[in-house]
Amino acid sequence: MEKVIEAYTGASSEGKKSRVPAKLDKALTISGVILAIFMMAHMFFVSTILFGEETMYAVTKMFELDFIFDGGLPIIVSVFVGIITAIFIVHAILGIRKFPTSYKTYLKIKEHSKMMKHTDTSFWMFQWISGLIMMFGATIHLYIMFTQPQNIGPYSSAHRVVSENMWLLYMVLLICVELHGSIGLYRAAMKWGWFDGNNPKATRAKMLKAKKILSFFFLALGFITLFAYIKIGIERADQLPMKYHPINSVEIIKK
Ligand code: HEM
Repeated sequence: MEKVIEAYTGASSEGKKSRVPAKLDKALTISGVILAIFMMAHMFFVSTILFGEETMYAVTKMFELDFIFDGGLPIIVSVFVGIITAIFIVHAILGIRKFPTSYKTYLKIKEHSKMMKHTDTSFWMFQWISGLIMMFGATIHLYIMFTQPQNIGPYSSAHRVVSENMWLLYMVLLICVELHGSIGLYRAAMKWGWFDGNNPKATRAKMLKAKKILSFFFLALGFITLFAYIKIGIERADQLPMKYHPINSVEIIKK
C-alpha cells in the first residue's frame, strides 16, 4: 500500500521521492508554478476594479497594447489566453497521471490518509478533486475570454458576472484555484526541497503557515473583487450590455 500511496502522491512515510518519471514530475511542477504566478497576476489585474471603473478599463486597454495600437487590439488578449490555455492543458494532462485509476484505489488511499492523518496525502486528494473541477470550469471561462476579448471591461465584465450568471462559476473556481495554487506551491517546495535548511521540520511548519496566508489573502481579495463586480452588475442590470467609455462617459450599446 505504501508504494501505491507513494506513486500517486509523491509522498511516503519515509519522505522518499516519487518513483514516477522525474522528467514528467518536473514538467508538472514547472507548468504549475507558471500557472500559480499567472493566477496571482490575474487576481491583481481583475481586482483593479476596486480602484474604480476607469482604472480597470485602463489596465484592460494596456493588455490590448493601446500604447502601440490606437484604441487597443483585443486579439492580443486572445493570443495570450491561447498560451495560458495550452499551459493549462499540459498541466492537467500531467496531473491526470496522479488521479486514482479506480474507485478501489481511491478508497484505499482515502483510508490510508485517514489512518495516517497525513496532511500531504489529504492535500493531494484536494489537489486532484479541485483539479478535476477546474478542468471543466476553467475551460468555460477560458473559452469566453478567448472568443470575446473585446467584452472585457468594468461594465462588460460586471454584466457577464451578474446577468450571464458567471458569479456562480467564479465562486467555485475562486475557491478551487486559490487553494489548489497555494497547496501546489507548498507541495512543490517540499518535494523539491527549495527551502530546506538545517531543520526541515521547522521549514515545513513555516511553509504551511505561508501557504495559509497566501490562500487567505487571495481568497479574501477574490471575494471582495467578485462582490465589486456583482454590485456594478446589479446596479446596471436593467440596462443593455454596455461598454464603458472613459472620455465622455457615454455608454455605447453593443450590437
Ligand atoms: C489568459 C487567461 C485569462 C484571462 C484573460 C482572464 C480574464 C478574467 C477577467 C477579465 C475576469 C473578470 C470577470 C469577467 O470579465 O468575466 C476574470 C475573473 C476570474 N477568472 Fe480569469 N482569466 C484568465 C484565466 C483564468 C484561469 C486559468 C482561471 C482559473 C483556473 C481563472 C479564474 C477566474 C476567476 C475565479 C475569476 C473571478 C475572480 C473574482 O472576481 O474574484 N481565470 N478573469
